[in-house]
Amino acid sequence: MKHLIANWKSHKTAPQVTQWVESFMQEARELLLPVESEVQLTIAPAMPHLSLLHSALATHVDQANKPHIQLAVQDVSPYPFGSYTGAVAADSLKGMPVQYAIVGHSERREYFHETYQEIANKVDQALSAGIIPIVCVDDEYISEQVAAIPDEHRKKCIVAFEERNAIGSGDAVDTDVVEAVIEQIREQFSPRAVLYGGSVDASNIATYCEISDGVLVGSASLDAKQFARLVQRAQ
Ligand code: PGA
Repeated sequence: MKHLIANWKSHKTAPQVTQWVESFMQEARELLLPVESEVQLTIAPAMPHLSLLHSALATHVDQANKPHIQLAVQDVSPYPFGSYTGAVAADSLKGMPVQYAIVGHSERREYFHETYQEIANKVDQALSAGIIPIVCVDDEYISEQVAAIPDEHRKKCIVAFEERNAIGSGDAVDTDVVEAVIEQIREQFSPRAVLYGGSVDASNIATYCEISDGVLVGSASLDAKQFARLVQRAQ
């Protein structure tokens, strides 16, 4: 099974979330996307839109060819419940329809100065709340990141290889480099899956899905019709 994870980052208002679901479902009907598919779709919306997105997806439960979509968060707190104003503890997501948490995305590193240890703590918090972490790594710092994450946690994670320069640039990493880094990640991490992320679009998704366990998609997931075509090409 391949993962296709949409990372909406800091985009979309509440009405735009509902509109996205309507357009995606309509496009899925028109493209005849299969319900039982080899591709597991997941969306990571902005945290306040989780319930709204879940409800909007649930209204299509009777649609004949409705692709099944899971939900992810884009981050969790490295701390448990407590006095950490503004942080969302992984435990507060218990009972919500959240299967995955992206942690250590390079934008979190760049703009929020996250450290390897904080990322490892986020992995710990997510796992203890029953959420699968999607740990983002760049080839420059794979070894440091692996070293910070305890051995017994590594195999429970999904790892996404994302080179900083490839994100949002339209310039995806060459497939031979991606293949080599994926191999390195499998050796060092033994994770449940290894994904590639960075300028994945409808023209290259099939290639990246072939050499990995799936992809993390930012820009090309924001437009519902474009995303439906991505799903079609990933089959
Ligand atoms: P992009 O983002 O698809 O816009 O390059 C990928 C990501 O940051 O996960």
